[in-house]
Amino acid sequence: MAAEHRRTVLTAIVANLELMSRDLTSVADRLDVTDRLHEVFDELSDARESADREARLRVESAEAMERAMHRFPVMEQGEVAKGYAGCFDGFVTQLADEWLGALDATARAQVEIFSCGPTPMLEALAKVAARHQVPCQVSLEEFMACAVGGCAGCTVKVMTPDGPAMKRVCVDGPVFDSQAVFG
Ligand code: FES
Repeated sequence: MAAEHRRTVLTAIVANLELMSRDLTSVADRLDVTDRLHEVFDELSDARESADREARLRVESAEAMERAMHRFPVMEQGEVAKGYAGCFDGFVTQLADEWLGALDATARAQVEIFSCGPTPMLEALAKVAARHQVPCQVSLEEFMACAVGGCAGCTVKVMTPDGPAMKRVCVDGPVFDSQAVFG
């Protein structure tokens, strides 16, 4: 909505500027700065297009987000979720498990999970992903002291092609394949 409003205001401003441009053009003719004035008009026009594009993108993103929220149930746990359409009574990983279980093989083959959140949730999700054989990436959270790879305070054990290795989340991650970390 804010993006729509912004676009409306911008359009009104540009309309006013266009009205003023006629007067400016005759003044510019007299002052012999017509070329520069036309450059400014071009810049204004570019700015309007770019603002318009940005506003359109924001509206599209908001609509996509709204669609996604209607498509995926609101996730709640406990009594509050019971009996309400759109609410799921359980952990988000249980919802993912049910959702993946309801897909046919073709649809499931198009799924990849990108996840972030608390480590126990990521571990549970890694199991769900393994069970349904879908790729899953986890963005790990660790306590960090230096955050530039110097202190080794953020290391986690990760399975690599050469066997298990300690990896620093701050510089080697934070995103890893879920099976390499929790498999
Ligand atoms: S925080 Fe120091 S190595 Fe990652």
